[in-house]
Amino acid sequence: MAGRQFAIITGASTGIGLELAKCCARENFNLLIAADEPEINAAAVELRALGAEVDAVEADLATVEGVDKLYAALKGRPVDALLANAGRGLGHAFLDQDFARVRHVIDTNITGTLYLIHKVGNDMRRRDAGRILITGSIAGFIPGSFQAVYNASKAFLDSFSFALREELRDSKVTVTCLMPGATESKFFERADLMDTAIGVAKKDDTGEVAKAGFDAMLRGDGDIVTGLKNKIATSAATVTPSGMLARQHRKQAEPGSANR
Ligand SMILES: NC(=O)c1ccc[n+]([C@@H]2O[C@H](COP(=O)([O-])OP(=O)(O)OC[C@H]3O[C@@H](n4cnc5c(N)ncnc54)[C@H](OP(=O)(O)O)[C@@H]3O)[C@@H](O)[C@H]2O)c1
Repeated sequence: MAGRQFAIITGASTGIGLELAKCCARENFNLLIAADEPEINAAAVELRALGAEVDAVEADLATVEGVDKLYAALKGRPVDALLANAGRGLGHAFLDQDFARVRHVIDTNITGTLYLIHKVGNDMRRRDAGRILITGSIAGFIPGSFQAVYNASKAFLDSFSFALREELRDSKVTVTCLMPGATESKFFERADLMDTAIGVAKKDDTGEVAKAGFDAMLRGDGDIVTGLKNKIATSAATVTPSGMLARQHRKQAEPGSANR
């Protein structure tokens, strides 16, 4: 359809990414969506019902090949918005984790995300137009005992997002970091966190979190911490010693903490 913009959304099969994709579809974007599993095709059907043209790519975005496959599916189309959202967590003590899974978290959340932003970001800079939304997390403010690698990966993304934004200050490319708190999705189950206090706690609504992030991206804001409770938590974290934050995180994420 003429006049529609074009967005890439990663991790759009479910959770926050699917809701971000719905925001884009409702706001006149056509979509290229990606995730690792075949469920991405069901998401495409749902999103087409909102009036968008949707291409779906099944690719492991932890790999260079997976990101190349997604980029090739662009077929040279200019990207108005890149919503780099795909990510995964991993509970339990670091030394007890399977290192292949540790690496997959880092390769998905950091390496794959940055590789895609590098490719699409260069195209945007050449055109001097575009919006980038990175799904970071308030976890990036807190040393995440019993989810150490995940929180560290989000600290990386939160920091990276502001730095990239500053580097692009004189261009018309904007970079926004969406920093949700605990949000209802498959995230906690997939990260083996269902026997933890955070795993069973009431969480934020996925649609509301995504809408706040999408609106912040359209405004070109630097970041958005969703919800008052999370705004207070991040403000407190900036003046709390890291050791104390790590100890508090244990109460939320230590295996068995769901029953204490
Ligand atoms: N839920 C929260 O409390 C919370 C809070 C702050 C930030 N976040 C961040 O929000 C983002 C979305 O998480 P969510 O809560 O919506 O979790 P989710 O329901 O588990 O969704 C994660 C999405 O990312 C995709 N994905 C994961 N690894 C991938 C890979 N290697 N290659 C391609 N796609 C991959 C998944 O697709 P497949 O199923 O096909 O793998 C899925 O579409 C993540 O970056 C997460 O860190 C979540």
